[in-house]
Amino acid sequence: MEWWKKAVIYQIYPRSFQDSNGDGVGDLRGIIQRLDYLKGGTNSLGVDAIWLSPINVSPMADFGYDVSDYREIDPIFGDIATFQELIAEAKKRDIKIIMDLVINHTSDQHPWFQESRQSRDSEKRDWYIWHPGKGKKAPNNWLSAFGGSAWTLDEQTGEYYYHAFGPEQPDLNWRNPQVQEAVFSIVRYWSEMGVYGYRLDVVNCFVKDEELRENPTRFFWGIRAMRRYDRETHIYDRNRPELHTILKRLNQVLAEQGEKMTVGEVFQEPPGTAELPASYYGDPDDELSLTFNFSFFFANWSPRKFREIITAWEKALGEDRWPCYVLSNHDFDRHSSRFSGFWSKKTQERAKLAAILLLTQRGTPFLYYGEELGMQSQSVVRKLLQDPVGKRYWPFYKGRDNARLPMCWNGDKNSGFTEAEPWLPLDKNWQSIHAEKQMQDETSLWRTYQTLINLRQKKSSILKGKTEFLDIPSIRVLAYTRTWEEEKVLILLNFYSRKEKLASSISGIFSGEIIYATDCQKIGQTLDVEQLELQPYEGIVVAL
Ligand code: GLC
Repeated sequence: MEWWKKAVIYQIYPRSFQDSNGDGVGDLRGIIQRLDYLKGGTNSLGVDAIWLSPINVSPMADFGYDVSDYREIDPIFGDIATFQELIAEAKKRDIKIIMDLVINHTSDQHPWFQESRQSRDSEKRDWYIWHPGKGKKAPNNWLSAFGGSAWTLDEQTGEYYYHAFGPEQPDLNWRNPQVQEAVFSIVRYWSEMGVYGYRLDVVNCFVKDEELRENPTRFFWGIRAMRRYDRETHIYDRNRPELHTILKRLNQVLAEQGEKMTVGEVFQEPPGTAELPASYYGDPDDELSLTFNFSFFFANWSPRKFREIITAWEKALGEDRWPCYVLSNHDFDRHSSRFSGFWSKKTQERAKLAAILLLTQRGTPFLYYGEELGMQSQSVVRKLLQDPVGKRYWPFYKGRDNARLPMCWNGDKNSGFTEAEPWLPLDKNWQSIHAEKQMQDETSLWRTYQTLINLRQKKSSILKGKTEFLDIPSIRVLAYTRTWEEEKVLILLNFYSRKEKLASSISGIFSGEIIYATDCQKIGQTLDVEQLELQPYEGIVVAL
């Protein structure tokens, strides 16, 4: 089994993890200092790999998602020597490093773009997507995800360039073989340095329709209709068939470098289908190693919904392709906030159930730093807003700062994140949820993560077993089994605040040992399914 199938992967947003040099912004040295927290310490979380959001040189128009030098580290985070030290220190603890590859677009400050925009016959003109426009108008109706037209007129040569995101992020022309070669050589460079995998930013946007056909518009009601971008159906600016050939080539390039993984951000209209991400694994396995399943981002707190998503995903991927589940990342409200419930505010209780759900699926789970503490999203006041995209569209859109608050390490000043003023305010609950506190507490959310990560490694059924949902009378409980050869586990999750009597409703299953329970007193006890009553927000894992 490839390493990434067995792994639990932890996303670090480097600006927010640990500051080591007193500038209020996290950095690579800070990450090195915190590695024992992740693995190899006396009481570690136990993750196997770290995905770092972008650390390459960047003017920070999108905090690193706009790269101006792909072979260097931005000085705000450190330098190549520190990065090599990070790889080496991580290796000692059996942690692999995954980089964010932002190669749909570069920064407008990248030398390639600077050269490209010089003149219409610049040698690198065709490295980006240029067009004279139609009369005095943009070439077509394509919109930018960050607002307005996706085309910006460049005065110098009187032509438009295309940018799926901000105007500071011009899209590369992936149809040009020189572009492909240039990017592949960057991938070789980092792989040789010891990077084990890549998260491919907006991978399904790489190739655009050759004829630049207009995207159809559609009608929406409600909040979703607010953004013009969402009223366009993105059929010609994304998911073009030619992309598959490029991903097969990338896969070959990586295969020459040993066992390297790729995980694609396949961006689609929410809630999306499982079929589209599934298509990027290739046929059967010659494109991406994984694509994120973002469906949990758009799920309400309902057992039925989660069951539907997992079933659809399993069906679309089949047995040969490996799912990839995620609850939170740096672009969306954190799940502990999304799931906390308007009235109930049972944030930690629900976060525990979500953690059990995530960590007992077949597939690679990605964690987002701080979710193991129950960090929440909280709106940042205008004066403190940092996300350039939020600043641009305030007050209609406040940006993504709320999901990027500093990690809560301990009860010291600034929760141990920095000596200086942190670049974003702390989570309002930092004093009650910080890591040091939860690591001592056997009933904490942190402990739920630690225990389940550990169980995944021990139990083949949890790691790779077949999933079967049980039809039980309660709509408030999610019940499923995972089976691998002779080994079988049962997972029961009560999503709500009512007690649930399940006695004798689970046919064919009688008893077993509780290997994990939100009520930790029960761990090690024998569960008699025939007598079963689940307490409010109770989650249990039973070895049958
Ligand atoms: C992805 C990133 C997001 C970034 C965008 C443009 O969606 O996750 O943070 O702004 O791509 O690169």
